[in-house]
Formats: sequence, structure tokens, C-alpha cells
Amino acid sequence: MATSHHAHTGHNHSGHQVPGPDDHAMAEMLELDAEVLQDYLAELTGWLGELSDGEPRRIIDLGAGPGTGAFALARQFPQAEVTAVDVSPLLLHRLSTRAAALGLSARVTGLEADLDAGLPPLGDADLVWAASSLHHMSDPDRVLADAFAALRPGGLLAVTEMHFFPRFLPADIGVGPPGLEERVHTALDTSPFVDWTENLVRAGFTIEAARPFEVQLANPGTAAARYAEICLRRLRSHLDGQVSAEDLASLDTLLDVDGPRTLARRSDLDVRTTRTTWAARRP
Ligand SMILES: C[S@@+](CC[C@H](N)C(=O)[O-])C[C@H]1O[C@@H](n2cnc3c(N)ncnc32)[C@H](O)[C@@H]1O
Repeated sequence: MATSHHAHTGHNHSGHQVPGPDDHAMAEMLELDAEVLQDYLAELTGWLGELSDGEPRRIIDLGAGPGTGAFALARQFPQAEVTAVDVSPLLLHRLSTRAAALGLSARVTGLEADLDAGLPPLGDADLVWAASSLHHMSDPDRVLADAFAALRPGGLLAVTEMHFFPRFLPADIGVGPPGLEERVHTALDTSPFVDWTENLVRAGFTIEAARPFEVQLANPGTAAARYAEICLRRLRSHLDGQVSAEDLASLDTLLDVDGPRTLARRSDLDVRTTRTTWAARRP
């Protein structure tokens, strides 16, 4: 049964009530993820459109964060209204600011709610989306039951999880022994992946597909360099005593924004990530 929780890769359950500098960093990290991976998001939402019986008009985003998925869904489905549910007021504030900037305030609205306490009644949804969020919940089965109840018969649930935290560096970065990035992730056990198949079936869903999306972007540009920097800085803050002093020094070299090997000046970065989406239908 899949019920594990991973605090390393985002908001953890115990910390989400107190916005701090970390929340801003996480929001920026999620926004950059969506910016860098916009083609993947367009492909994923387009695929959900193909699986839907008619274009989705009422959409609920569970654990929406700053709205990365909500905005991709609003773009893909121009008739849709998206309710973005999250427990963090700070992330919802970013979402509403961005919705206004994008001219989407009428179609993308935030709803502050703790999904561990239950999803407020929202009416019949055509599509419920939960990206990288279910593993944060203390009782994911309960959230799946709420998603089932929120959907109209025939409606779709899309649950997405990362197979691994995104990678950015080549094996040999020209400083220290090769393989730094893998050693960092191994030391911190960052893998967020949970297989939700059994939970979805138990909740009463019919699984239409579990589709892995494998993304590799070579020379991905400045947003990706900034994304890499935020991710690696976040990992660095947990690393003292977890890897060798030599590896810490190598990482600090990459994160030294004034240094010659800083991430922003490198031409050898890429973005590698694999994410699976379960598309599950309420019969
Ligand atoms: C890793 S982020 C994913 C955000 C967004 N779905 C994305 O893909 O960019 C996980 C989100 O789940 C939210 N979350 C965690 N526990 C929650 C809960 N009990 N109720 C509502 N939201 C929760 C967090 O505040 C955070 O925004």
C-alpha cells in the first residue's frame, strides 16, 4: 500500500501553516518547473482532453501550490473554470496574483482548505488533478475518496508523481569526482515516487492508463539554470555531514553566483525528469 511521505522535495505536512522564506523558494521552484516544462504540461493536459468525454469545464486542482497545473489546465481548456485547492495561504496568494497577471482571475480561483480535513463540497467536477501533492497528505485514501465524490460519473482523475527529483548536471562537471548529483540525491533519499494504482482501484476508480512522461531538455536556457540553482541550493541546505567535504566544496563552487563555474554560466546543463500520470475514471 502506498502511504509514504517525503519532506525533502517540497512542503511537508507539519510545516505548511507557517509561511517562511522557504515557502517563497518553493513557490519559485514550482513556478520555474512549470515554465521549463511547459511543453510537457501541454502534452499531458492535451492527453487528458483526449481521454475526457467532452472538454472539461469544471476542474479541481488538489494541492495546487502556486497554480502551475491550474494555469496549464486553464490554457488547454479555454471553457474551463479551475478551483485550485491548497492549504498554504502564501501559495494561494501567488496563485491569485499570477491569475490576475494572466487575465485568468475569472477562471482560476484559489480555495484555502486542508485536504486532510476534507474537500469542501464543490459540485460535480469533470476533471480532478493532483500533481506531486498526494504523497504530502496524511491520509491519501481519504483524499482519493473525496476526489471520487467530487467527480461526476464519467469524470476523470489525473494523479501525477515524479519518479525522481529533477536532474540538471552532467556526470563530470569539471570539479571534484564525477557523479556529484547522484551522490547528493542518494545521500538525501529524495525519491518522491509512490505507485497509486492499488489506492485508485480501492477508491472505486477505473484506471484508463498510467503513462510515464520522460523529459530531457538539452541546453534549456536561463529559467532552467535558475531552476537548477534553486533545487541544488535547497538540497545543499540539508547536506552538511551527509556527503564528503570534497562534494560539498564542488556544490558550493556551482552555487557561487560570482564564480567561473556558476550554474548560470554553464552550457552543459540539461533538465531530466520522469513523471507518471494515472488517468482514472469514476464509473
Ligand atoms: C510539491 S507541491 C505541488 C504543487 C503543484 N501541484 C505542482 O505540481 O506544482 C505540494 C502542494 O501540496 C500542498 N499540500 C500539502 N498538504 C496539503 C493538505 N493537507 N491540504 C491541501 N494542500 C496540501 C502544499 O501546500 C503544496 O502546495
